[in-house]
Amino acid sequence: MSVRHFLTLNSLSRNELMTLINRAAELKSGFKQKTVETSLSGRVLGMIFEKSSTRTRVSFEAGMAQLGGHAIYLAPTGSQIGRGEPMEDTARVLSKMVDCIMLRTFEHERIELFASYSDVPVINGLSDSYHPCQLLADLLTYSETRGSITGKKVVWMGDGNNMCHSYMNAAKIFGFSLIVACPEGFEPAGDIFEQTSSHVQIVHDPREAADQADLIVTDVWASMGQEQEQQQRMKAFAPFQVNSELMALAKGDALFMHCLPAHRDEEVTADVLEGAQSVVWEEAGNRLHSQKALLEFLIA
Ligand code: CP
Ligand code: NVA
Repeated sequence: MSVRHFLTLNSLSRNELMTLINRAAELKSGFKQKTVETSLSGRVLGMIFEKSSTRTRVSFEAGMAQLGGHAIYLAPTGSQIGRGEPMEDTARVLSKMVDCIMLRTFEHERIELFASYSDVPVINGLSDSYHPCQLLADLLTYSETRGSITGKKVVWMGDGNNMCHSYMNAAKIFGFSLIVACPEGFEPAGDIFEQTSSHVQIVHDPREAADQADLIVTDVWASMGQEQEQQQRMKAFAPFQVNSELMALAKGDALFMHCLPAHRDEEVTADVLEGAQSVVWEEAGNRLHSQKALLEFLIA
């Protein structure tokens, strides 16, 4: 059988994703009870980061260690990647030495190219277009807090970015309705909308979007690589801030999520981020458990 990669949520079937989320919940409860796991004993994950990270790096590295394996961190500085060694070469070399490779990079095509040259599973640890690992954690968080997400109203507030695209994929796979509320000119990619439009609606009015929502999700207004657009974006996105007035339009038991890092009082106010409806810390912690389930699925 050809090697399986995890480049977008669509790389796995709905059933495989459900199995993975159930396994993540099992691993989480084992983690709390300090159960010793050895499912990836002797296995090695290579991690290439061409952008910064806190959560993704620590969750993959800790996750491998907790499953009895090991992870190696590579960044452009200090490796040949930063000196221009082609992705195709790095992929072929690393696949002879490790069991799985996680890559965080810019253009999504770079991950696709890397995966096409890799003999071992490749995981997308975030590209300009998608962040599927974060969705595993978000889906686990919703399911353990509120049960099934199928049929719910989820609102993506802000930029039509990588996280938004992965939410669009999730909406189609899990059958929830996703309202993307974004300023004009910051819509998600047209081709991804075309594939998911049965479950996605794009609006430009944040209040209309938030009405009776079960879950409101946001993200930074300028993603990694867009730092120079920060000032211009601040203006365009200001009406899309998730604050207590906006949360009040959602259902009384609506949840708030954010992949983090968060910019307090930009895309979300401090009171919402720290408030009773926010599950962001559990969500961040769930990166660990969901990715351990992913690593087992791809490697073991
Ligand atoms: N949410 C997320 O991917 O965080 P990091 O950028 O810290 O990895
Ligand atoms: N959209 C953000 C997500 C960070 C985890 C970015 O790409 O920077």
